[in-house]
Amino acid sequence: MNAAAISAHIEPIRHEYAEGRSLILPALKYAQTEKGHLTREDIEAVAEATGFSAAYVESVASFYDRLYLQPTGQRVVSVCVTLSCMLRGSDELMERICDRAGVSHHGGTSEDGMITVQEAQCLGYCDHAPAVQVDAEQTRGPLTLDDADALVDELRTSPRPDELWR
Ligand code: FES
Repeated sequence: MNAAAISAHIEPIRHEYAEGRSLILPALKYAQTEKGHLTREDIEAVAEATGFSAAYVESVASFYDRLYLQPTGQRVVSVCVTLSCMLRGSDELMERICDRAGVSHHGGTSEDGMITVQEAQCLGYCDHAPAVQVDAEQTRGPLTLDDADALVDELRTSPRPDELWR
């Protein structure tokens, strides 16, 4: 996405933010709608549109689980590994989801391009630990290991709805 398109998106909302740097996040989210992830050109376009350096914009992008600096699979499963979920078995859950998806225990994208698994920090669903988020849209929990298998099987056979790319 180019800087002009990003500027057209953020200028109408600029007044809602006390500081200019706060616009970086909505600008990145908007830029990501084009391809489902952020390219180097997207980072540079956001930098130009917001007036911050590309290095700073990239540091913001790399902080958030839901901004992707690499292409993802059709579906993205984010496994919470923060304390409440960890105490309730998120390590085993992460391993089981990775095994079922066919990626390393550190996460990654399955060979068929259907599923990306990644670790995430607290999803705000601690009372349902261990929890996961699907496509940054649905939070599910508590998940058993059998639930993990069923989740991966479900996602593998259901491409991401078009509207979730937006
Ligand atoms: S610690 Fe996992 S959702 Fe909060």
